[in-house]
Amino acid sequence: MTQDSSTYWKKSRVEVRAAGFDPDRAAQATAIVTIASAWTNAHRCNNRVRAITDLLVDLIAARGGQGLVVGAPAVSDALTQGTPTAGYSLVSRDVAADCFEIGHYAHHGDAMIVISGCDKTGAAALMPLARTNAFGLVLYPGTSSPGRVDFGPWARKGTNLTIMDWAEGRAAREAGRITAEEFDALERNVLPGSGTCGAMFTANTMSTIAEAIGMMLPHGASHPADRGAAGGIHEDVAAQARASVDALYRLMEQGIRPRDIMTERAFENAITTVYAMGGSTNMYLHLLAIAREAQVPIGIERIQAIGEKVPLLANLQPHGPYAMTSLHAIGGVPIVMKELLQAGFLHGDVMTVTGKTLAENLADVPTLDKLGQQDIVRPVKDPIAPANNHISVLKGNLAPESCLLKLSGKTLEKGVFRGTARVFDSEANAMKAIRAGEIVKGNVVVVRNVGPVGGPGMPEMVMLTIQLQGRGLGEDVALITDGRFSGVSHGILIGHISPEASKGGPIAAVRDGDAIVIDPKKRTLDLDVPDAEIARRMASWTAPDATRVRPGSVHHKYVRLVSSAHYGCIV
Ligand code: FES
Repeated sequence: MTQDSSTYWKKSRVEVRAAGFDPDRAAQATAIVTIASAWTNAHRCNNRVRAITDLLVDLIAARGGQGLVVGAPAVSDALTQGTPTAGYSLVSRDVAADCFEIGHYAHHGDAMIVISGCDKTGAAALMPLARTNAFGLVLYPGTSSPGRVDFGPWARKGTNLTIMDWAEGRAAREAGRITAEEFDALERNVLPGSGTCGAMFTANTMSTIAEAIGMMLPHGASHPADRGAAGGIHEDVAAQARASVDALYRLMEQGIRPRDIMTERAFENAITTVYAMGGSTNMYLHLLAIAREAQVPIGIERIQAIGEKVPLLANLQPHGPYAMTSLHAIGGVPIVMKELLQAGFLHGDVMTVTGKTLAENLADVPTLDKLGQQDIVRPVKDPIAPANNHISVLKGNLAPESCLLKLSGKTLEKGVFRGTARVFDSEANAMKAIRAGEIVKGNVVVVRNVGPVGGPGMPEMVMLTIQLQGRGLGEDVALITDGRFSGVSHGILIGHISPEASKGGPIAAVRDGDAIVIDPKKRTLDLDVPDAEIARRMASWTAPDATRVRPGSVHHKYVRLVSSAHYGCIV
């Protein structure tokens, strides 16, 4: 793509005029800025994106530039999880990235601001920036403000209740552990307005990565979206939008492009920070996809090797009590990064979208001892959990490529979990069994044929993990799957099992009653069945019926292109 591609838009006077622009002014535009905007009014995560888009158009115009808007689908995981359309979520990551690439080039953009949001739009924010290498950065529409109620364990969390508390409350209500009135109070209070799921779930994992990798302005990953459903965008979002346009023009003046920022060392910083924050397992898929776009050689074992050295510092849900906005109030992600930098965990010399290095950005950020009494971010010398207790990459005869174990800072009581398999070929059947009380302590719930091809689209098994937590089984039942988990999920969880069952992975060989062993220390996931017996079972395995995916549909294309989770489900 030629660097003066915007000339074509500026010279298209008849088109420009017909679209409502002044052709003389368009011809003089200081820059054509693609505003990559996955707006929808369908859900709280991205419903503020249009207001931010309009603000950016005005801010760019004030600099003599022209903002041109490109849309893309924004799939809410909360609206799709546990439903027949859950398989559209991960697919939408790549579709959105493609939409932004297409719009940017088709409209002849010089630069790009991507407004992220719900999980997949967070991943899809960095992918087109890395792919096109157009001057640009990411702006976050914000996370949801938390709420409070005055009963049970929820009251003890104070003003830190998020969608996770509502979801676990729903399971507790089903199990008869809370009253209808109490559940209603949760529903009315956990989400006072717009914003992404409000703690260290996948959207905030991805905003943290965008900030930590240097592609978002400091303190940009944690602000609330608004002050209530009836109001406008939060003033911190508006301030970030103004500062982002200023930063974009600086990047153009200084000639700093995304791939000057998203270097291998910057990826190492992002991985370190997101581990210290307790990010979601989805980070693996998305980091691998972004690294592919940035042409950086980061594979799954490298993420593991970096992450396993990092202690858990941020006391955020799902592993801790606090919401993301609590972190924002004490200074946000830079507070965590300052602690990590001082302890030697980060590269301070990498470039960022401020036009300065990370160390320069963090120079004036207060150290933890200057913050006074707080329990939201802990020091490296007194972490919430020592290194190697969050997410680990495992292998074994059940996962010859890899799988991910999420312990969220907890340690298995006996060091190893050995349980009895209860096998389900769909999320719905597993849910039925949990609800019927058929899953008991010592079980390993196996949910298969829900991988990238099997799903199709690798849906999140979050509703199952919430049911287990809500029924008090989170510490005594493991769940393993070739599907994914939400950032909300916690417990003894193994996802991303690769190869997946639908591609002939050995998870397809598991039978009810088999013994399954999870060993975090050895980083293994094994079926305790002789190899010859596994081979005998796999000899009768058949691939899923190809006609289950409608020809011509997006899933039809997806299942032919998608890689395994081991490689990030890239297409
Ligand atoms: Fe959008 Fe959780 S559903 S961030």
